[in-house]
Amino acid sequence: MGINYKLKDIFYGGDYNPEQWDEEVWEEDIRMMKLYKVNAVSLSVFSWAKLQLDDNIYDFLWLDKIIDKLWENKIYVILATPTAAQPAWMSKKYPSILPVNVEGHKMKHGRRSNFCPSSTVYKDFSSKIAEKLADRYKDHNAIILWHVSNEYGTYCYCENCAKEFRTWLKKKYKTIENLNEKWYAHFWGHTFYEFDEIEPPSNLSEILPGALGNRDGTCFQAISIDYNRFMSDSILSCYDNEAKVLRRITPDIPITTNLMGAYKPLDYFKWGEHLDVVSWDSYPSNSDSTSNRAFSHDLMRGVKGQESFLLMEQTPNQTNWQHFNALKRPGVMRLWSYQAMAHGADSILFFQWRQSRGACEKYHGALVPHAGHENTRIGRELRVLGEELSKLGSIIKDSKADSKVAIMFDWSNWWAVEFSSGPSIALNYVEQIQKYYKAFHDLNISVDIIKPTDDLSKYKIVLAPVLYMVNDETVKSVESFTKSGGTFITTFLSGMVDESDLVILGGYPGAFRKLLAIWVEEIDPLYPGIKNEIVKTDNSFIDKDTYECELICDVVHSEGAKVLATFGKEFYAGSPSVTENSFGEGKAVYIASAPEQDFIKMLIKHYSEISNINSIITPQIGVEVSQRKKEREIFTFVLNHNEEEVKINLSGVGDYVDLLGKMAKDNEYILESKGVLILQSKQL
Ligand code: GLA
Ligand code: ZN
Repeated sequence: MGINYKLKDIFYGGDYNPEQWDEEVWEEDIRMMKLYKVNAVSLSVFSWAKLQLDDNIYDFLWLDKIIDKLWENKIYVILATPTAAQPAWMSKKYPSILPVNVEGHKMKHGRRSNFCPSSTVYKDFSSKIAEKLADRYKDHNAIILWHVSNEYGTYCYCENCAKEFRTWLKKKYKTIENLNEKWYAHFWGHTFYEFDEIEPPSNLSEILPGALGNRDGTCFQAISIDYNRFMSDSILSCYDNEAKVLRRITPDIPITTNLMGAYKPLDYFKWGEHLDVVSWDSYPSNSDSTSNRAFSHDLMRGVKGQESFLLMEQTPNQTNWQHFNALKRPGVMRLWSYQAMAHGADSILFFQWRQSRGACEKYHGALVPHAGHENTRIGRELRVLGEELSKLGSIIKDSKADSKVAIMFDWSNWWAVEFSSGPSIALNYVEQIQKYYKAFHDLNISVDIIKPTDDLSKYKIVLAPVLYMVNDETVKSVESFTKSGGTFITTFLSGMVDESDLVILGGYPGAFRKLLAIWVEEIDPLYPGIKNEIVKTDNSFIDKDTYECELICDVVHSEGAKVLATFGKEFYAGSPSVTENSFGEGKAVYIASAPEQDFIKMLIKHYSEISNINSIITPQIGVEVSQRKKEREIFTFVLNHNEEEVKINLSGVGDYVDLLGKMAKDNEYILESKGVLILQSKQL
């Protein structure tokens, strides 16, 4: 059992910033929290300036008061260490805390997340404030969870970071000769003689913004990939620095920090090992697709090996920081809350409780808007949701997804693909992953997002779109998965380089060549708007003669793989575009281009069917169905994202109880627009 069992309820509430308000407002806050059935709030996320007035002067009285007041009203506290924004006096007195940005400018005090992760002064102060908080509140029954800092992520390029980077490199490569070899440093005379010649890859050194055909303009992939790894580790060390203190003083209180979904700068799979429970902040725009929102939740579930996670923040209504901050339409806040839960969330928390009066987030949605009372559309919706969650209690909590399909995702790979100069700047790693994810999502088939080295034995289908960078362990594990009957599906630009970004010689797709039984001789990126065709061959399961494809076309030779389709255009017309190789008991499939979504859906449907993986309920456009399981219980979530009501046939669910208690036991059900069903049934 994970540490989540210590978190007693489905938490409902969110970021509470009483430090922005006079105490009489606190009374009103409590009244409304009770009305909304709020049972947990996050406190002190940004209150370092109020808690610590100088090196040794602290003021916890206001925090004592509000924690007690909340607890008198049976509201739990998720206590944050306030270290995401250091006080102004601290930046002034200890300017070494301030970071240097990628352009090489030393930052001044301001904004938030504006500290250098290598600053020992920052680290000393942050472990000190963590210690003070833990000592003071260790016996307070209200404290249910530690929320360390907030949305970590700022990279730094200062002299201190340069020093730490060299130490990190020494540990990794041992000798400068080894580093030169792994970095391919003889190219452009990048050879290093001593570690102290190595500079962080900033605009002052290796980065030419907008140049060289890669997103960040790095001239030197190997150092840039390692710098990202190093920065992710360094920032993680800030979390660890506080978590260590908290764990020592309050070993029974779980610790988290709020992550941000598919956030490129930090390797969250590595972070997952350091968190007791994953929590994350979900801020999709109204124009994001249902499946992309689901993907983010599933990615966050994957961070800690598919354990349930906490939805730490979402907005009850609009945001303020997007270009166009549209309102959440009626019913959407509730629908998206249940969508999070359907994918593994054990809490529904918001940013923020009371809408700020000033500063940049004053137009961000809140549970209590500027009007200051509950008689609002959002207020009414929040009360309904609070009431429902209080009835659901903890029955769903800790139940798990049970997927037979996994998609591999990897941060180093993401960096390597998008740092690469060539073949195409239009290649977006996450988008490619999301296309394959969507095909399963639209079929109501659950997917785990996993790291390449995760155990594959429980899956029937494993996908690795654009898995460009691989290590031996992954290749071995994919081969043995396929050999014993699994279906492995991969695409163009896979298996190409090792973990140092060195090309695996002897022909693409390098590490996967034997498994796929193909040779990719050339890689042809297409100009925007240009398409090629995937043309089915005889005896292939492909249902239509042609489908469109774009972005990249590989010139492929089969070396034993069955050719399911060829390209329709260009000098490589007639050469393979989709292949399938029998490997042991299983199959290894290669897709040599970026096909239109209908093709991916058809392909995924085929491999799901032959793997005996079925939709829970017949798929309908805009109706999302997913399940969580616990012991013998199954919870089936049916979510209608459409603007219209839909008729749903629930016969696939078996005998069920509707946990939201609004329906009969019929199999035919009319689900209203934005409506939600949660059906509890027994595993047979
Ligand atoms: C983030 C932060 C919050 C707040 C919200 C606004 O998630 O953690 O402090 O700024 O964004 O959307
Ligand atoms: Zn720094």
